[in-house]
Amino acid sequence: MPRIAQLYFKTAILFLILGIGMGLNMAISQDHSVIGAHAHCNLLGWVTMAIFGGYHALNPRKAERRLAMIQYYVYTAGLVLMIPSLYMFLLGNMAMEPVVAVASIITFIGVLLFAVIIFTGEQVAVTPSAQSYR
Ligand code: HEM
Repeated sequence: MPRIAQLYFKTAILFLILGIGMGLNMAISQDHSVIGAHAHCNLLGWVTMAIFGGYHALNPRKAERRLAMIQYYVYTAGLVLMIPSLYMFLLGNMAMEPVVAVASIITFIGVLLFAVIIFTGEQVAVTPSAQSYR
């Protein structure tokens, strides 16, 4: 598996652990005010990152491009900034609002960069070959 795909899955699982932690905390405390941070952590962190990683695993030529690494850092930086600031904002810290806004824009730029990765570069997809156990 290309390094970038490994990196995406390693980062994604950390967001899932954090997201589930928030979910359990909401369920136990019966306070669902951070529902937005929980949902974004799980969906933009775990689900979307795993899809990015899966795409790179299936397109190793694209995974070697410098743009792939730049995209990873931009998208991850956006989320690392967005999730805690959104969490604090939803708990009532209004000063976090501009941070959430900037973080959301960085995350969106990361998504746009992934669109560039999808639409450009050499399309050499890997076909996973099934191993025979007979
Ligand atoms: C053990 C794991 C999890 C726990 C304990 C948990 C817990 C919760 C809780 C307590 C809520 C608030 C429900 C409400 O106020 O209506 C919630 C909402 C939500 N969760 Fe989770 N969650 C877990 C995993 C996940 C995962 C893996 C995802 C996504 C991949 C996810 C996505 C969402 C979404 C999108 C909402 C908002 C639903 C809505 O507004 O209708 N959750 N979760």
